[in-house]
Amino acid sequence: MTPSRALVLGTLALTTMLSPCGGEDDIKANHIGSYGITVYQTYGPNGQYTMEFDGDEELYVDLDKKETVWRIPEFGQLRSFDPQGGLREIAKAKNNLGLLTKQSNSTPATNDVPEVTVFPKYSVLLGQPNTLICFVDKIFPPVINITWLRNSKSVTEGVYETSFLTNSDYSFHKMAYLTFIPSDDDFYDCKVEHWGLDEPVLKHWEPEVPAPMSELPETVVCALGLSVGIVGIVVGTVFIIQGLRSGGTSRHPGPL
Ligand SMILES: *[C@@H]1O[C@H](CO)[C@@H](O)[C@H](O)[C@H]1NC(C)=O
Repeated sequence: MTPSRALVLGTLALTTMLSPCGGEDDIKANHIGSYGITVYQTYGPNGQYTMEFDGDEELYVDLDKKETVWRIPEFGQLRSFDPQGGLREIAKAKNNLGLLTKQSNSTPATNDVPEVTVFPKYSVLLGQPNTLICFVDKIFPPVINITWLRNSKSVTEGVYETSFLTNSDYSFHKMAYLTFIPSDDDFYDCKVEHWGLDEPVLKHWEPEVPAPMSELPETVVCALGLSVGIVGIVVGTVFIIQGLRSGGTSRHPGPL
């Protein structure tokens, strides 16, 4: 492929990528609210009542404290939700699950193998506060332990995790967060325990410190620049002298 054709293709791809943003397309944008996702499972036993908007968590009902917990406190200033509604749904789900468990002769759910990814929220600068995100996908059943390790030691400060969020295939995903200050000396692991794993998965993360640059390229560039400069001065001086000589005779004819 010729370079110019490649450039045209590249430009086309860029335009295609940019075109759906903004403009009239916004009007047609689709939104999905899932108001009242009720999950109940017999291990624990344990239930979860959540609301999602466009795939993000809006709230969950704390079943022990019997209160609504908004994902971002500001949401609670705009709206309210009576946690009793969630508690009622959980009670119904518990009852239904009991009946279904009997009908299925207590066949247990099959365990999926969760997928774990760790990445920082912002681009990493040593010494700049940041947040590590552990994204765990394909969780089924929704029973999991996600913990953080710093230099192989358990960390409990500065951690937060979302509820189980729904996937279209009835598995779940969850995000665990750790606020931290990137440092050369620290490395991190997100540790995931799940029945679909033979042993806990440790997903490693450490800041990528750029490899120290060799000084050779800089020296070469410096030497090249210097030589070009010197050559320029020499050539320039020669031109000036030539110009002075010829100009001196033609433009300023001396007295006869
Ligand atoms: C989660 O941790 C608890 C306490 O260490 C343990 O009893 C439980 O088996 C763990 N759960 C899973 C799914 O490994």
